[in-house]
Amino acid sequence: MAACRALTLTALLLTLCNGKTEADPVPLVIWHGMGDSCCNPFSMGAVKKMVEEQIPGIYVLSLEIGNSIPEDMKNSFFLNVNEQVDGVCKELAQNPNLKNGYNSMGFSQGGQFLRAVAQRCPSPPMKNLISIGGQHQGVYGFPRCPGEISHMCDLIRKLLNYGAYTREVQDYLVQAEYWHDPINEEQYRNGSIFLADINQERHVNVSYKQNLQLLEKFVMVKFLNDTMVDPPDTEWFGFYRPGQSKETITLQESNLYMEDRLGLKEMEKAGRLVFLGVEGNHLQFSKEWFNKNIIPFLH
Ligand SMILES: *[C@@H]1O[C@H](CO)[C@@H](O)[C@H](O)[C@H]1NC(C)=O
Ligand SMILES: *[C@@H]1O[C@H](CO)[C@@H](O)[C@H](O)[C@H]1NC(C)=O
Ligand SMILES: *[C@@H]1O[C@H](CO)[C@@H](O)[C@H](O)[C@H]1NC(C)=O
Repeated sequence: MAACRALTLTALLLTLCNGKTEADPVPLVIWHGMGDSCCNPFSMGAVKKMVEEQIPGIYVLSLEIGNSIPEDMKNSFFLNVNEQVDGVCKELAQNPNLKNGYNSMGFSQGGQFLRAVAQRCPSPPMKNLISIGGQHQGVYGFPRCPGEISHMCDLIRKLLNYGAYTREVQDYLVQAEYWHDPINEEQYRNGSIFLADINQERHVNVSYKQNLQLLEKFVMVKFLNDTMVDPPDTEWFGFYRPGQSKETITLQESNLYMEDRLGLKEMEKAGRLVFLGVEGNHLQFSKEWFNKNIIPFLH
């Protein structure tokens, strides 16, 4: 009898404890954009605070790539993206807070980098992927590279002109790794060591497709008045129609979608792709907009 009561009590406690674990908010992993860092109080620091205000007790990890803030900023230009993704996968796998899964939110280039994490590293599981101004079909220009890092912008343009798809530039320059030249699609397919790989341009890696399907929702936010990303359509996975650089096509009009090389068509049919548009320039949004449109995906 006593043993039985003890067992019942244990079971009850277990239920209570498990119940509590289930009610804990899903952790969030953030990956910042180009020239930014994990912890700038005016960018990712502010985002982390907004999330914590809305979801008390949430665990938020804002990724620092490197061992210091200056390194983190520098690495957003000059550390091979495939190595960055590998490093992040290891970090996430070792973090006990994330073992039951997490949501992720990438800003600008961080959006496509987190998609690579989803496709390459299914454990721990990513639940929702929220891409805020991410460039899923790459870019063909840096029209308004942010002013305070203009020497970086000049260097980037020089290297891209020198030869975006040469091995040296690919290994060295992050932005070359998602440079997408629509006039020379074949060079892009052959030479891009990052974007052409995750977009299944050279061959279909079945595990990329399967892993992406594990997401509950893939949310893509496009800035409707974006003058920094060329073309802004890339934020909804559209791009220039191959062979020229004026006319754009949507994701749904692309071969990637029609052949369903990445499973996006299947995800859309199942209602798991979400396209959000926000008025404003690149990464410009209000707290009200964020709380209303993004916070619901973080619960
Ligand atoms: C497919 O992707 C997985 C996960 O990143 C990788 O381990 C594997 O080598 C890739 N396969 C091919 C054929 O590229
Ligand atoms: C792309 O790679 C294929 C196969 O290796 C090769 O035949 C072709 O010439 C390459 N094209 C360019 C533009 O580099
Ligand atoms: C932003 O873009 C949208 C959609 O193209 C347009 O309706 C709106 O007028 C633009 N807003 C500004 C401030 O330019």
